[in-house]
Amino acid sequence: MKGLILAAGRGTRLRPLTHTRPKPVIRLAGKPIIHYALENLADAGITQVGVVVSPDTQEDIRQALKDFPGLQIDYIVQQEALGIAHAVGTARDWLGQSPFVLYLGDNLFQKGIKPFVEAFRPGTGAVIALVRVPDPRQFGVAVLEQGRIVHLLEKPKEPPSDLAVAGVYVFGPAVLEIIAGLEPSARGEYEITDAIQTLINQGHLVLGQEVDGWWKDTGRPADLLDANRLLLVEQKSPTPVIEGQVFDSQITGRVVIEKGAVVRNSTVLGPVHIAPNALVEGAYIGPFTSIGPGVTVRQAEVEFSILEDNSVVEDVPLRLHECILGVGARVTRRNGLPKAHKLVLGDLSSVELA
Ligand code: G1P
Repeated sequence: MKGLILAAGRGTRLRPLTHTRPKPVIRLAGKPIIHYALENLADAGITQVGVVVSPDTQEDIRQALKDFPGLQIDYIVQQEALGIAHAVGTARDWLGQSPFVLYLGDNLFQKGIKPFVEAFRPGTGAVIALVRVPDPRQFGVAVLEQGRIVHLLEKPKEPPSDLAVAGVYVFGPAVLEIIAGLEPSARGEYEITDAIQTLINQGHLVLGQEVDGWWKDTGRPADLLDANRLLLVEQKSPTPVIEGQVFDSQITGRVVIEKGAVVRNSTVLGPVHIAPNALVEGAYIGPFTSIGPGVTVRQAEVEFSILEDNSVVEDVPLRLHECILGVGARVTRRNGLPKAHKLVLGDLSSVELA
């Protein structure tokens, strides 16, 4: 069994964060999102992983995975973002005749993906991970009859069930031939749901299996914050794990402070993750916050937030809550007159002022 991770998407709903970097490299609870996918694949016994990247984003993805231990990782470049099935088609030669796990690189599964790999038998067309959701309209939706998927629709306006397709699929090689003959959908993409529906129509066994534990598709900013929250809660030690330096501070709960990080005159209330070389000084870091490498938080309060690498929050009078700061972003105090907000925001940025 091989693993195929898709990491070539444009992440349009996460702009401006994804203007410059692909979504799977955003760090949640101390690790790039794509690391969780690799860990889950490794945990399911898979050792050979292909990562589909785009020409624009491949460098960031390679960088994020360069030290990942224990797996053979190959990169497959998808020249154009034409959909999930197109990405799989691009990897056809790499996949050969092997069954494979297709893993959408922005999906997170609390309890991994082993049950789906285990449910797959030689000759099965596919095993699809499913989740019951209150509003399935933004997902692929499955109709299940005694464990078999009989019908699959992509983002239907009137969903026939509440079973959404989560981002993990286990396929036998038969799907590759189908993908080669696929026509683009109305939105101009080669849809994996169309390929699976064809598998069903051809009489292949397509099994649906519900996900155990939480599942998160990190499509929008609110999803990122929530995924970060869920992952921080999973940090193993209920008491602080301090490898960095802490001076005159109160550290409580599930807090990880990595090597090279410095916390001084501050209060940190977990769950929180503080990455190497971050500096927290005269600050309050509240629950559900990830502080990235090289970040500075000084004379400021931050909670339920994600601060990416080298971002700065300094001398800010009001607590930051539900904030995502991209690499190198700065939130500081404006001194002098006029007493006004001074903003330099990238395209499609969003700011809510209190
Ligand atoms: C894709 C699939 C959809 C699936 C979803 C899961 O949608 O097309 O069937 O439910 O991933 O994350 P996307 O998020 O790319 O719009």
